[in-house]
Amino acid sequence: MNDIYKNGVVILDFGSQYTQLIARRVRENNVFSEILSPNAKLKEIEERQPAAIILSGGPSSVYEENAPDFDHEILNSDLPILGICYGLHILAQHGGGHVVSDGKGEYGFADIDIQIDTGIFSAVSSSSVWMSHGDLVEKIPDGWHVLAYSSNGVIAAMANEDQTRVATQFHPEVHHTKEGQKILSNFLFNIAKCSKNWTPGNFIQEQIEEIQRIAGQGNVLIGVSGGVDSTVVAALVHKAIGNRCNAVIIDHGLMRKNEVRECLEALRNGLGVNIYSYDESKVFLSKLKGISDPEEKRKIIGNQFIYSFERIASEIGKMDYLAQGTLYPDVIESGISKGKSAHVIKSHHNVGGLPDDMALQLIEPLRDLFKDEVRKVGKELGLPDLLIDRHPFPGPGLGVRIIGEVTIEKIKILQEADKIYIDILHEDGLYNEIWQAFSVLIPVKTVGVMGDQRTYENLLGIRAVTSTDGMTADWFRMPKETLSKISNRIVNSVRGINRVVYDITSKPPGTIEWE
Ligand code: XMP
Repeated sequence: MNDIYKNGVVILDFGSQYTQLIARRVRENNVFSEILSPNAKLKEIEERQPAAIILSGGPSSVYEENAPDFDHEILNSDLPILGICYGLHILAQHGGGHVVSDGKGEYGFADIDIQIDTGIFSAVSSSSVWMSHGDLVEKIPDGWHVLAYSSNGVIAAMANEDQTRVATQFHPEVHHTKEGQKILSNFLFNIAKCSKNWTPGNFIQEQIEEIQRIAGQGNVLIGVSGGVDSTVVAALVHKAIGNRCNAVIIDHGLMRKNEVRECLEALRNGLGVNIYSYDESKVFLSKLKGISDPEEKRKIIGNQFIYSFERIASEIGKMDYLAQGTLYPDVIESGISKGKSAHVIKSHHNVGGLPDDMALQLIEPLRDLFKDEVRKVGKELGLPDLLIDRHPFPGPGLGVRIIGEVTIEKIKILQEADKIYIDILHEDGLYNEIWQAFSVLIPVKTVGVMGDQRTYENLLGIRAVTSTDGMTADWFRMPKETLSKISNRIVNSVRGINRVVYDITSKPPGTIEWE
């Protein structure tokens, strides 16, 4: 394993909703972190050569039957350990302390009174922290001391004599804990002596060597969608193996206005990537003719994507590998921990799928990264902000943003309107505050008046949401001046739309997309 993965942190996940956040916060300190199951054996942990272990929080109580536990050998190792919430309870219990439920718990902001301001509390002045617990430590293990109490008298932090085992009842990873990042970095650097090797530059260097090692003299195929992940993969693979990297954009005709052109410009003209676009829009549109059911449209687009990709791949010549932009959250979700970066594709996968008999090996250079890290790597590779900061875009594209049947006329109307909407979000400095913004063409006609003319045209829905992962979302509180500008400019310049409505539905109960 390369140095960038050494001297980092292994996080044992006891099921906290914040576990991925802990991993990201650690990485923000340029320290590698990896999430493992709580069942991971000490040997498996030590193979990774970490400098420390973090025990996450979790929904269980340590005194419950079948409460999640870890390999007790870990306690005999020299690795520094930070326990957070459930991690604190489990350390207390194993050390001979006592954990109880007082029936009240602490949820939300709390104030703590720091008793010992060394170790994790070194140079920490704020007492405002974020709590989320029902259980609490009633008695700490022998030889340990309390570092802080909450204003309710609850033990908020504790440590062993030399502070190599330290635990907090509160959540330093949550940004509501005012100096959480300082507390975490005190642990990482003052206590665990982690290395700051995890930087975009080091990652790129390491991946270039890894891609060269895996691909050898082989040819690599990449399906680029216009989104940040596949774009960064193309730039990275190109940097590693030059023209043996073959990137293709399948233009299904359902992309946003100028998207294909901008992607080609950035990759081909900007970075010299061997990339070509294939205009498959006619075949996609003909298959979508007369279809208005959302699921059917998705299926048609997905299947046609596979047919087109297969045909184009066979036209390009012999390919040995397929590179794709799988990210770390996908890896965590699938339960596969860090392993070899290449394995044989068995069935369909998330570029849209390949036929089973296409014996390509898979290269996934981003499988250790979170989305924000992909963006940093993309910037370091020289990709323009326009591409890097772009909001997520669904595979079926505008096909699921045109309600009902998709036609070329409707696509054009939606592309024009959406471009105006997104341009205004940039103009008003709002684009980066929003997780995803887009327009939806609703082919319902309403009456309007322009000049002395009566109009009878389509409705446009505009949506903007805040979110962290797309699983839940809230509607963005758009300033009314911006809403007014969007509506005026669209209705005045896009023929076919005479009314604009703003979607104020959160997820749940709504979904982000309309279809
Ligand atoms: P929903 O509409 O399910 O969307 O709340 C959550 C996120 O997923 C995106 N999305 C898709 N992405 N293929 C994709 O690659 C799809 O078929 C697809 N459907 C929804 C959506 O844009 C949002 O970011």
